[in-house]
Amino acid sequence: MQTIPVKSMRGDYSIFVGVHLLEKSGTLLQSLGFTGKVCLVSQKKIARLHASKVLRSLRSKKFEVHQYFLPDRERAKSEKELFRLIQFLVKAGFERRDTVFALGGGVVGDLAGFAASSYFRGVPFVNAGTTLLAQVDSSIGGKTGINLKEGKNLVGAFYPAKIVISDSQTLRTLPDRELRASLAEVVKYGVIRDAKLFHLLETSSEAILGKDPKLLERIVAASSRIKAGVVSRDEQELKGERMILNFGHTFGHGFEQALQYKKLLHGEAVSIGMICAANAAEELGIFSRQDNLKLQRLLEAFELPVSIAPFKLSWKIIYAAMTRDKKKKGGRLRFILPTRIGKVIVRDDFSQDLIQKILKKAGALS
Ligand SMILES: NC(=O)c1ccc[n+]([C@@H]2O[C@H](COP(=O)([O-])OP(=O)(O)OC[C@H]3O[C@@H](n4cnc5c(N)ncnc54)[C@H](O)[C@@H]3O)[C@@H](O)[C@H]2O)c1
Ligand SMILES: [Zn+2]
Repeated sequence: MQTIPVKSMRGDYSIFVGVHLLEKSGTLLQSLGFTGKVCLVSQKKIARLHASKVLRSLRSKKFEVHQYFLPDRERAKSEKELFRLIQFLVKAGFERRDTVFALGGGVVGDLAGFAASSYFRGVPFVNAGTTLLAQVDSSIGGKTGINLKEGKNLVGAFYPAKIVISDSQTLRTLPDRELRASLAEVVKYGVIRDAKLFHLLETSSEAILGKDPKLLERIVAASSRIKAGVVSRDEQELKGERMILNFGHTFGHGFEQALQYKKLLHGEAVSIGMICAANAAEELGIFSRQDNLKLQRLLEAFELPVSIAPFKLSWKIIYAAMTRDKKKKGGRLRFILPTRIGKVIVRDDFSQDLIQKILKKAGALS
């Protein structure tokens, strides 16, 4: 097991990464002073696969455990589901010291974390991510929240978990497409901060796709260390450092939005987004052709999309989607560009012509 510390204005916390950690959740909670009731928030599909390990472990340490199920997918992050969970906590007699324990992907963690932040103005929260995305991204850094019909993640709070538990064994049951998509975020960490991690991905892509738990543990731990370091220094995105986590995301969000979040998973959109950012960096003469090809090859090894061509979108539609939010906030588009594998810079001076050129190179139509 690896322990990764995170600093937060709401209290420092630790991420535990390892194999078969869910079986130790009772011991972990007890050793960190948790007592009383625990509400295990999950989705039926995940609970069938992984909840019994948590239930057994918590009960063996005399926690009173209640189980609660959210519906699948994004619709779980709604006002209705938030209040339904809070009502459940009220009825089950949960008090200020009792714990909300999320067992699931980013959807479960975001909703359960937001409920924990507001119930009694904040009850202890544990986040056990069961998707690669949750383990390397959403369970770290304290962002919680729900979607409104007007937009995603519009209401929320910074409310980090008191314990993050990342059990690599849970990733073995992930659908292949979910695993591959989240590998784009792991590639992202390699490019922005960790050439060694990038190299490990290059040399072990087959074993990773084969869900080797030890390798998964290594890539989750390496990615978590990077995110933990960034959010420890810039929790609320005030100093600018947290921005580097958006490598591939300015273009990526444009693709997701232009396709109404229907055809590409987030990580798949980020994969094509990273290709665009890398092409822009090469075009500007700050990133070598050789490193750009390495990135492209790695994404292809993970069977991730590297072109937007199959979706037949015009560059103007993507550009409009990219600029929509920025216009509302009156800001400029910011791009995180690699200068080599392991290092990025931020640029906000792209011309529309350059963006058009990059989007067309990635397969967008005129
Ligand atoms: N809080 C943050 O900082 C942050 C960061 C990035 C993304 N997010 C949010 O995370 C959400 C996406 O998270 P996600 O990609 O984990 O999606 P998700 O939570 O919807 O999970 C994807 C699918 O996998 C299933 N699943 C989860 N674990 C499984 C397992 N071990 N075995 C089999 N199936 C499993 C889920 O039931 C679901 O159907 C979005 O709502 C996004 O806004 C939050
Ligand atoms: Zn992302």
